[in-house]
Amino acid sequence: MIISSALDYREAARRKIPPFLFHYIDGGAGSEMTLRANISDLAAIPVRQRALRGAAEIRLSTQWFGQQSALPLILGPVGLAGMFARRGEVQLARAATASKIPFVQSTVSVCSIDEVAATCPHSLWFQLYVLKDRGFMRDVLERARGAGVTTLVFTVDLPTPGPRYRDAHSGMSGPYASLRRLFQALTRPGWAYDVGVMGRPHDLGNISAYMGRRIGLEDYIGWLTANMDPAISWPDLEWIRDFWKGPMIVKGILDPEDARDALRFGADGIVVSNHGGRQLDGAISTARALPEIARAVGDGVVLFADSGVRSGLDVLRMLALGAKGVLLGRAAAYALAARGRPGVENMLSILANEMRVSMTLTGVASIGEIDESILALTDIGK
Ligand code: FNR
Ligand code: LAC
Repeated sequence: MIISSALDYREAARRKIPPFLFHYIDGGAGSEMTLRANISDLAAIPVRQRALRGAAEIRLSTQWFGQQSALPLILGPVGLAGMFARRGEVQLARAATASKIPFVQSTVSVCSIDEVAATCPHSLWFQLYVLKDRGFMRDVLERARGAGVTTLVFTVDLPTPGPRYRDAHSGMSGPYASLRRLFQALTRPGWAYDVGVMGRPHDLGNISAYMGRRIGLEDYIGWLTANMDPAISWPDLEWIRDFWKGPMIVKGILDPEDARDALRFGADGIVVSNHGGRQLDGAISTARALPEIARAVGDGVVLFADSGVRSGLDVLRMLALGAKGVLLGRAAAYALAARGRPGVENMLSILANEMRVSMTLTGVASIGEIDESILALTDIGK
């Protein structure tokens, strides 16, 4: 298959991995209104084309918390990546390291922090979920710190998983799920051998390490529902801020008041995100939420954004709306599923090239120059 855009990896992934995994990546909550709005609202933002602005050298590098990044991009946390490709989290971390950008490892990874950190000691960030078992949270934070993780990403928009209708239909959950997944694996022999057989063990590596026994993936969605903690509120979590001395980013903010609460909590950064439309269907798209949150938090906090980014031009739009960096969710997951580490590196280079072209045509030469003046008249954020 010819790959010329990040979105081509979506189709390539569909062909490569079993349907239950493809739909787990591709799907969202409810009728997927927010999932679609993330993409369409962002893509609808017009940019100002400029002429003869003399941008001979385009610079894509930037920095957050004193750490350099070659691109204004981060490979965001994606659960179960080790099922999309063999030891998928290690491949993602290696792609990020080769591209000189950070990778955020999810709490619900197949590979443990130690496995990932051993192969990629640099640019590793860790994403934390609030589980009912507080002992786990402390244990995983200690192991993250011990493994050399620099930056903590604390996700607050999944007190419980959103209703994902596709998962029940696809065999990810629902009746006879194990049997249906087995049949699907037989239709994808390349994946079945490479990941299904050679990519073992298949479990939640970080959680198994803490529990001292294998936490398998037979009922992953059921496990999430049973173990996430909806009773939590900001004051219950102050110990995390006290414990983690490095930069801490709160991910999953969509409302200016919550952004202010996150700052009071002591966040050094915020990710404006609706979890890629996987949580509250009907929630506002990130493109619409971002400008008001940028105004609410001011310049003192490092603002990131994700949800709906599928091209280099989309990255530029998010930066123009107020983000200082952009996390990739599905764009990286599709590329990983389709072609592993080389696919992710290629996807990043496609986005980087598109950014260079878009910056040339909008007349900006560096990431720091990008602001709302590169956008043409739009009602987004007004
Ligand atoms: C996610 N996301 C996510 N976020 C998080 O904080 N921890 C996690 O474990 C996961 N797991 C996960 C799995 C899959 C398959 C997807 C697609 C997403 C959310 C992710 O980090 C990011 O916020 C969204 O994916 C951004 O939207 P786009 O880029 O996918 O449109
Ligand atoms: C998801 C969780 C794991 O979105 O973040 O599937």
